[in-house]
Amino acid sequence: MKKFCDGFLWGGATAANQYEGAWNLDGKGPSVSDMCTNGTHTNPKRVTTVLEENTRYPSHEATDFYHRYKEDIALFAEMGFKVFRMSIAWSRIYPTGMEETPNEEGLRFYDKVFDECKKYQIEPLVTISHYEMPYALIEKYNGWESRECIGHYVRYCKTIFDRYQDKVKYWLTFNEINAGTLPLGSVLSLGTIRGYSGPVTEVWDRPNERFQALHHQLLASAQAVKYAHENYPKFRMGDMNLFCTMYPLTCNPDDVIATQKEMQMMNWFCSDIQIRGIYPYYADRYFEEKGIRIIMEENDKEILREGTVDFYTCSYYMSNCVSTDPKHAKVSGNLLGGIANPYLKSSDWGWQIDPQGLRYALNEIYSRYGIPIMVVENGLGAVDELEEDGSIHDLYRINYLRKHILQMKEAVQDGVDLIGYTPWGCIDLVSASTGEMAKRYGMIYVEKYDDGTGNLNRRKKDSFYWYQKVISSNGEILD
Ligand code: BG6
Repeated sequence: MKKFCDGFLWGGATAANQYEGAWNLDGKGPSVSDMCTNGTHTNPKRVTTVLEENTRYPSHEATDFYHRYKEDIALFAEMGFKVFRMSIAWSRIYPTGMEETPNEEGLRFYDKVFDECKKYQIEPLVTISHYEMPYALIEKYNGWESRECIGHYVRYCKTIFDRYQDKVKYWLTFNEINAGTLPLGSVLSLGTIRGYSGPVTEVWDRPNERFQALHHQLLASAQAVKYAHENYPKFRMGDMNLFCTMYPLTCNPDDVIATQKEMQMMNWFCSDIQIRGIYPYYADRYFEEKGIRIIMEENDKEILREGTVDFYTCSYYMSNCVSTDPKHAKVSGNLLGGIANPYLKSSDWGWQIDPQGLRYALNEIYSRYGIPIMVVENGLGAVDELEEDGSIHDLYRINYLRKHILQMKEAVQDGVDLIGYTPWGCIDLVSASTGEMAKRYGMIYVEKYDDGTGNLNRRKKDSFYWYQKVISSNGEILD
């Protein structure tokens, strides 16, 4: 039976806007995520168009990787990480996104981070834009709605590729790019918030502008990939998708067709373009029915064709069901709700836990594309109790991760070319959907709380020691 390959990239994943803090230090400009307030499960976070007094903006300090990167990377090394997924904050490099020259202090920060990783032979896996862009680009252009953003993004990419060419090999152009196919994804992933200030769950949707913005991101990604391939052949360029396995709620053919359609437009649309280099056949009918008309320039098709990625990556947290019958109860999820599956349990935040859905997804992805795959996010958001002696007994998280790793192993035995796994929020950080600290994913606890208090001290959870064994046995010891 096949095992995880030699050199399998075990590690963990983070994102600058949820982890780094130092939102306005050393020349960094504000990003869209710096305008997001805190929230809770029932009281969603808001996006504000100006910073409000007496309002908490959790990204501003987050869990302070900026000042604690040495300590954190040493802890990742102690767990045995081979890879560390992190993102670069675009507005740390180009504060407004529009400068001609980059902010040297920002560039220097990531030099230090990558050097620290190298000290422990940890390979960085860098997301170029993870749910943030300079806020000035939103004020001026309403984010990706404007084609102008392409040039600004590509300049940023060239700067970081040239600068870190000897330090970083693995790059992902946009986090969960397919979030742009969903109304709720437009604020975070596309930055399209013009005239808007309110809960992220009540976005006024304009599908035409949304898909136009997504088209611009896809072009930007392709141009960045092309530049990387032409100049740095050793780079490995990846896409990154929010993958949510979907099942028809019943075997009624209406439900089966509805599921297929949702899978196409949500799970496959972006990766079909980023891997095959062309808009998929099913998009035409969808656009026609929704009245969507994307403006394409003459050589857009060529750009997409020339900028295809080398490997596929996704986040995987949950599955849901699809039904054409409106009476069924909805569950929540990362940007995407769905219909409850009677065979599955949910997390405290209502996300349906489905390890086998990951095996199913990996097989589907591999049979479609046949290129290497990394699962770059997966994990359980839960409330952790810090005991008096400083321990944290997070058996629920261990169980969640164990079951998902077992299903990844099944997928490897099925023949899938899986090359890495970076569970989300390997260290506690701010929740993307709610802005909370209480929703923790880490194997390392951070003493930071929703009222803004906490000394930011790091503590090892039980899952820290468990994951250490998983990595040192290359996924063979999972008890
Ligand atoms: C993914 C995002 O969708 O889910 C991360 O890429 C996010 O940024 C993660 O943090 C978990 O979601 P949440 O809302 O629980 O933080």
